[in-house]
Amino acid sequence: MQVKVLLNEDEIPRQWYNLAADLPTPMQPPLGPDGNPITPDMLAPVFPMNLIEQEVSSERWIDIPEEILEILYRWRPAPLHRAHFLEKALDTPARIYYKNESISPPGSHKPNTAVAQAWYNKQFGITRLTTETGAGQWGSALAFACSLLGLECKVYMVRISFDQKPFRKTMMETWGANCVASPSTETKAGNDILAKLPDTPGSLGIAISEAIEAAVTDETGKSRYSLGSVLNHVLLHQTIIGLEAKKQLEKIGEKKVDVVIGCAGGGSNFSGLAFPFVQDKINGAEIDIIPVEPTSCPTMTRAPFAYDHGDTAMMTPLLPMHSLGHEFIPPPIHAGGLRYHGIAPLVSQAIVEGLINPRALDQLESYQAAVLFARTEGIIPAPETSHAIATVIQEAKKAKEEAKEKVIIFNFSGHGLMDLTGYEKFFSDQLVDYPLPEDELQKSLKSIENLPKPEAAKSGRW
Ligand SMILES: Cc1ncc(COP(=O)(O)O)c(C=O)c1O
Repeated sequence: MQVKVLLNEDEIPRQWYNLAADLPTPMQPPLGPDGNPITPDMLAPVFPMNLIEQEVSSERWIDIPEEILEILYRWRPAPLHRAHFLEKALDTPARIYYKNESISPPGSHKPNTAVAQAWYNKQFGITRLTTETGAGQWGSALAFACSLLGLECKVYMVRISFDQKPFRKTMMETWGANCVASPSTETKAGNDILAKLPDTPGSLGIAISEAIEAAVTDETGKSRYSLGSVLNHVLLHQTIIGLEAKKQLEKIGEKKVDVVIGCAGGGSNFSGLAFPFVQDKINGAEIDIIPVEPTSCPTMTRAPFAYDHGDTAMMTPLLPMHSLGHEFIPPPIHAGGLRYHGIAPLVSQAIVEGLINPRALDQLESYQAAVLFARTEGIIPAPETSHAIATVIQEAKKAKEEAKEKVIIFNFSGHGLMDLTGYEKFFSDQLVDYPLPEDELQKSLKSIENLPKPEAAKSGRW
């Protein structure tokens, strides 16, 4: 019985894949405060130019620098597992595979881009990075990468997760980073929110505002901001996951994939696995590609495709994306990494093109799936990852009903060993489902009412 498919270091993909090169319709540009497309130099106070070049690139393949690969070898290539034991429990004819991203030192897919971003910043002469973190996985990943590359790291962690997951802060400190709860009193953005909402659980939108402010107001000029998801270059760095997976499936003679699944907060782990398969779909393959979000934060399934800011204080350019509105404060569910008001523009564009089909799932179904996974495959999933697993189970059951030998692959984006409070609450029946009420959605959408609309949305074509 083959449980793991491994690649040697010399089989690692040496280029990232850029979906922007293959999308049937070109991406709509981010807009500045005047409503005109932004230029790369407008982003220069926030990001180093070498990453801005990747952000706007339409090259299909981008070389991965050798020094980045040398750091990634600490855990990559990541194994592809066949979920034999979950399949058996479900009595499904489907063959289920997962990329195990939980084996990275911080415990998720996030260091794939953290290492790349820290490396490019260092090349550009930057000495300090600032960032936000939701569940704490991204903050830990950037702390880890900065520690290996000798950069300073400052992390604004969403208040509710800061309280739910205290050991994440300790992990970040172990890698030498400084982590504070957001909103904090250290920034204007944080103080403004605290004045209005002193008891707020925080949000990724607020933490992003704080981290950008901390980078651009640093008088040394040697600080930049780093984002763990959403942007094109972040998704690009994650494609190593799907590119490895394809090599691994080929190695075991698995010729056709039917279903590709990943949970989606900002969209990076989903895209990392899925975009190389989206390319196949564009070229004619029949694949069902499913990003999964929580019903409490239904960006892809219920929010309009709009222009919106990536953060609450409206410091970022307007991005063309599905958005619940930048003032949205998500309910404090345990999947902290899935509590974001927007989604990556590349994911949004793939949705409107009909290349991927998003789905929303409740918290309790996700925890039930996570527990079944832990009791069969063994690894305790992160609450975000559980959303992907619950969808896999839905698809495996469907394959059984249809008596079809489907091949399903999903991204095991992270382990849940720092998220056990959520499990504790699940076992003691303290968790509830919280599908976002329609009136709350409509209220939150008011913050984007007067912003420009993407061309295609205006024409009603999408
Ligand atoms: C384990 C895990 N999975 C998924 C996500 C969601 O982020 P993204 O959609 O960018 O992959 C996060 C974010 O924190 C995470 O920690």
